[in-house]
Amino acid sequence: MGFDVAGKTVLITGANRGIGKSFLDHMLKAGAEKVYAGVRNPDAMTDVVEASGGKVIAVQLDLANADTINSVAGSIDRIDLVINNAGVLKVATPFSDDVFDSLDYEMDINVKGLIRMARAFAPQLEKTSGVFVQLNSVASLRNFADFATYCASKAAAYSITQALRDLLQPKGVRVISVHPGPIMTDMGKSAGLEEVAESPAVVSEALLAALASDDFHVFPDTMAKNFWQAYKTFAKGVVESGASEG
Ligand SMILES: NC(=O)c1ccc[n+]([C@@H]2O[C@H](COP(=O)([O-])OP(=O)(O)OC[C@H]3O[C@@H](n4cnc5c(N)ncnc54)[C@H](OP(=O)(O)O)[C@@H]3O)[C@@H](O)[C@H]2O)c1
Repeated sequence: MGFDVAGKTVLITGANRGIGKSFLDHMLKAGAEKVYAGVRNPDAMTDVVEASGGKVIAVQLDLANADTINSVAGSIDRIDLVINNAGVLKVATPFSDDVFDSLDYEMDINVKGLIRMARAFAPQLEKTSGVFVQLNSVASLRNFADFATYCASKAAAYSITQALRDLLQPKGVRVISVHPGPIMTDMGKSAGLEEVAESPAVVSEALLAALASDDFHVFPDTMAKNFWQAYKTFAKGVVESGASEG
């Protein structure tokens, strides 16, 4: 069942930079009526808000803090599409001195943050038969040892995304799991991926195409497509099959 962004109200976490900013630009181009930018520092969004002619509304949202998320959910009348894009990456292997701090931080933002978002916005999305999008990664499927704890958190987030799909689909809410490979953002640079990274626009375009189709999995860029090639049979036959068969 395709979803047309035109005329819809969208919320994007981490919309101030990187892939989230690209989502914001693409949602406006696709005709969204309103885009809520869920960011830690709304004051830094003034230029974007002004340039949008009132279509972008910056709201204070910290994935670490359920109160900020619930307060945004409570202040919005209608929401059709939630894109939980914000995420964090620490460069830490299982042998790094800060491995447990890194893991705790990434699990709090990348996994608990996802759960906080789903709990806050599911009731709203049920009212509009809306869509919940989660930014996962190729790292949800394969660990990269230099940032092993991040990969573990993205694997956990992908697992929770599947639970959300199984629980929300019967209530008319569609869930989409996006799995980029290396993308040219601050995070991509901090992970040392500049040489292979692709533009954030590749992710936005793939998400718009997925919204128009009925796909659950989205693998946008070159590396991601290679992963999908190898993973597709399992994904279609097991992950996307009925929950009772799992
Ligand atoms: N770049 C890649 O290669 C890549 C590949 C696969 C998946 N991803 C995923 O794609 C998503 C976006 O990544 P990106 O590359 O655009 O990252 P990025 O450039 O580092 O931007 C991260 C965004 O998340 C926000 N954020 C961080 N902690 C937050 C919190 N506690 N509450 C609310 N917002 C918070 C940041 O806001 P501040 O400006 O306030 O810090 C920023 O807007 C992430 O989920 C990431 O895991 C990225």
